[in-house]
Amino acid sequence: MNGPVNIVILTGSGISAESGIATFRDTGGIWEKYDYAQVATPEGFAENPALVHEFYNERRRGLAAVEPNAAHFALAKLEAGLKRCGGRLTIITQNVDDLHERAGSIRLLHMHGELSKVTCCGCDEVLKWREDISLETSCPTCKSAGTLRPYVVWFGEIPRFMDEASDVIMGADLFVSIGTSGSVYPAAGFVAEARTLGIDAMELNLEPSENAILFNDSRYGPATKVVPEWVSEVLRKI
Ligand code: APR
Repeated sequence: MNGPVNIVILTGSGISAESGIATFRDTGGIWEKYDYAQVATPEGFAENPALVHEFYNERRRGLAAVEPNAAHFALAKLEAGLKRCGGRLTIITQNVDDLHERAGSIRLLHMHGELSKVTCCGCDEVLKWREDISLETSCPTCKSAGTLRPYVVWFGEIPRFMDEASDVIMGADLFVSIGTSGSVYPAAGFVAEARTLGIDAMELNLEPSENAILFNDSRYGPATKVVPEWVSEVLRKI
């Protein structure tokens, strides 16, 4: 086996862009249309929960209209290929969409939560959820009304699975970042964590990210092109 065996991939909204989900900071991105402080912070939710529900309802509805693209499918194929050879692929995603799992990825950490789930501020239950939420919606578990919130990590909150993310990065032969601008921490710090440990790091993105200088290899272009090409190369080598 000549190729890397344990690969950790960080994904961002760029991998889902060609499926029709808007990125955040590109021209026409979500944070051009909405003020993140109003819709993606605990303070914004306390101030105007109806607006926050409206924002996430629209995005949750949008999930039904999109499909995984060639980049998501290539990563699922890579996971299966590495597994067959005794290796391992873990995806740490900043995305709240469910396109990786719909493409077949299994080892997946949703560090910023999941749009297709809600949690109850009253009883902490986490539930799969496809419908809209309003201030009148009751928690099916504790029956309280108005206590549900999107199961999404907002600015100022602690991302999920950080210990698991550090552990998998520590055991990796290669760290790959796909479709992220590298502007939101702690995810943006993973490349430095990997490089400090002597792990090779590669960036696959439409254009050089803010952290581009930290990677020791890169491929630039649309995810649906560069990701399947890179996956084929890796699978040929193992
Ligand atoms: N293929 C590959 N990369 C792409 C594509 C594409 N088709 N389209 C856009 N990109 C790249 C852009 O060049 C940019 O570098 O994807 C990146 C998207 O960056 P952001 O909009 O900043 O999104 P992301 O990095 O996922 O944001 C991180 O910020 O607001 C928060 O919680 C939100 O998880 C999100 C986090």
